[in-house]
Amino acid sequence: MKYYSTRDAERKAAYSLKEAAFRGLAPDGGLFMPEFIPQADMEKVRSLAAVSYADMAIYLASLFFGDDVPADRLEAMIRKAYDFDCPLHTLEDGKDVLELFHGPTFAFKDFGARFMGGMLGLLNDGSEDLTVLTATSGDTGSAVAAGFHNVPGIKVVVLYPEGKVSPLQESQMTTLGGNINPVCVRGCFDDCQALVKAVFNDVAFRADHYVTSANSINVLRWIPQSFYYFYAWAQWTLRHPGQSPDIVVPSGNYGNITAGMLASMMGMPVRRFVCASNANDVVPEYLSTGVYVPRPSVRTVANAMDVGAPSNYERMMCLYGNDFAVLKASLEGFAYSDDQIKAAIADIYARYGYVSDPHAAVGFLAYEASKAEGFYLATAHAAKFGEVIRDAFAQNAPEVSVDEILAIPEGLAKAMAKEKVYTMMDNDVNQLEQFVDSLSR
Ligand SMILES: Cc1ncc(COP(=O)(O)O)c(C=O)c1O
Repeated sequence: MKYYSTRDAERKAAYSLKEAAFRGLAPDGGLFMPEFIPQADMEKVRSLAAVSYADMAIYLASLFFGDDVPADRLEAMIRKAYDFDCPLHTLEDGKDVLELFHGPTFAFKDFGARFMGGMLGLLNDGSEDLTVLTATSGDTGSAVAAGFHNVPGIKVVVLYPEGKVSPLQESQMTTLGGNINPVCVRGCFDDCQALVKAVFNDVAFRADHYVTSANSINVLRWIPQSFYYFYAWAQWTLRHPGQSPDIVVPSGNYGNITAGMLASMMGMPVRRFVCASNANDVVPEYLSTGVYVPRPSVRTVANAMDVGAPSNYERMMCLYGNDFAVLKASLEGFAYSDDQIKAAIADIYARYGYVSDPHAAVGFLAYEASKAEGFYLATAHAAKFGEVIRDAFAQNAPEVSVDEILAIPEGLAKAMAKEKVYTMMDNDVNQLEQFVDSLSR
C-alpha cells in the first residue's frame, strides 16, 4: 500500500508507509491517505471479534500493512499492543457506550499510540537511531510515552509546559524511564509545539539526526483507530441483528470520527455518524450553514476537544470526495456549552449510576439529541478529569460525594506514587537540539 497527500488533486500515491509514517505530514502540508480503501470481509470481522480484539485487529491491519511487514511480526506486535479490554457497555436498552479507556493511559489514544509505537519499531527494525519528538498539553504525551516505551531503536522526547499539565498527566509521562525522555519547558503548550516545529524545520540538524513526530494525524495512529469501530459493530449487531448502528463521536481534531468513516468505507454498515462538539463547533456549524470557518479555539471543560481548526477536516473531506452534499448525507453535528456538559455528567450518574468523563458526556448529549440507535464513544476515564467531575456535581447534584463514586484506577494511582524524572528546559531550540543530540551519543 502506498500513500498520497490530501492536497494532491491527482492523488498520486508516491509515498511508502515508512515515508508517510516517518514524515507525519506530506511535503505539501497535506495529510497522507492510503492509495485505496481495502474492503473488509464483515463475516470474518464478526467471527474474529468473537475471539479477541487482537485477532480482529490482526486481520484488519494486514489489509493495509500486509506488504510492509512480515505477518508473524505484525501479529506479535498487535497481540502485545492490544492486551486490554474494549467493551460496549449498555446504559439502558438502545443506549450503548463504547468504552475506549481501558488501556494503560486510560484514554482512546492508547489504541493509536501503541500501534504506532510497535509499527515504527518494525519499520525501523532497530537499524536506525530514530528520535520521536512530541509536544503535549497532557494526554497525547502520556499515550505516546506508554505506547513507545522500550521500542528498540527509538528514543522519545516529550515536551510539556511547566505547571500546565495535571499532576496525574505529568506522573504518567515522567515515571517510565528507559527510552522516554520527558522535558518540562518553561513556557506554554504553543511554545512546546513551536519548539518541535523549529527542530523539524532545521534542515541542517535533520540532515544529521533522524527525527519524526508522533502527531495524531500520522497514518499509523489514524488507521488503527478504525479497528475499534469494527469491534463495537460486531458486538452491537449481535444484539441488533440485521440493523446498522448510528455512531456518535465526541470530536475535536476529527481524527477519531474520520477513522470511523474509514471503517464504514471499508464495508462496515453504518446508518449515520454524529459528531459531538463542545463550544468549538466549527464542524456542526459547517454542516448547518455549508460554510467552513476555522477559528482560534476557546477553552472548555472538555479541553481535549478544544480545537478551532481540526487537522483532520481535510482528511474527512477527502474521504467524501470534497463534496459537501455527500458528507452531509452521512454526518450530523451537535454542540454543547460547559454548563450543559456538566449537567449531563450529573444527569448520567442520576439515571444510570455511571460516571462519565466530560468528553463522553458530550457524546451522550448528542446521542440523545440525535435520537440515535447505536452507540456513542467514551474516550477517556472519568478519573482523568476529577476537577471537572467535582465541579459538575457541586453545581448540579451537591448531595453526591465524588470521592465515593470516582475510583482512581490502579495504574493511575501507581504512576502517581512514583518519582518524577524529567529535564527542565528554556523555550530555546538550541537547548532542545543539544538535548536530542546528547541522546544519540
Ligand atoms: C478524551 C478525548 N476525547 C475526545 C477527543 C477528540 O478526538 P479527535 O481529536 O480525534 O476528534 C480527544 C482528543 O484528543 C480526547 O483526548
